[in-house]
Amino acid sequence: MTRLKTAVLISGRGSNMVALVRAAQDPDYPADIQLVISNRPKAAGLERARKLSVEAIAIDHKAFPDRESFEDALHDALSARGIEFIACAGFMRVLTPGFVGKWVGRMINIHPSLLPKYKGLHTHRRAIEAGDRDGGASVHWVADEVDGGGIIAQARVPILLTDTEDTLAARVLERELTLYPEGLALAATAVING
Ligand code: GAR
Repeated sequence: MTRLKTAVLISGRGSNMVALVRAAQDPDYPADIQLVISNRPKAAGLERARKLSVEAIAIDHKAFPDRESFEDALHDALSARGIEFIACAGFMRVLTPGFVGKWVGRMINIHPSLLPKYKGLHTHRRAIEAGDRDGGASVHWVADEVDGGGIIAQARVPILLTDTEDTLAARVLERELTLYPEGLALAATAVING
């Protein structure tokens, strides 16, 4: 069967990346995770990927004079390996329209809020401060507007009266680990079916 050669972009611990790699160990899963890239050399997720036998490399954004040259290096690393699809998973760099334009329709992200609510940072704090009854996470296509592309899959998680930013983040992350594999499968299948 057709499986998209997929890269996961991370910046940190990589829990979502691990969930995607595990899902893709099924030969019937429509994405094959062949590469993990972190913009932070010390990201714990790099070692976790290698333990799962996935090539994992760092491309340190701080080693480049500007966003464009960092993104050129990123694009070259992806292209050199024949990567066809990108899943951002806790990748904390904003991508410029130049890079997004090269990958539009072939790049997705997971964001820890019920989009279109709370684009950007501190999503859980903002949901608690607003008195929301639910938080959640969204898998979406990456478009020029940050966290603004079409929504592929969403999961709702209750906000408890006792929640802090950290307890809510942990409950949402737990749900992300099943949501993201479902979302990547939906998106990859859509690309494969044209
Ligand atoms: C996840 O909660 C993800 O939704 C969020 O970062 C966390 C990464 O955790 N992403 C963003 O905030 C993107 N703006 P992980 O590295 O353990 O998967």
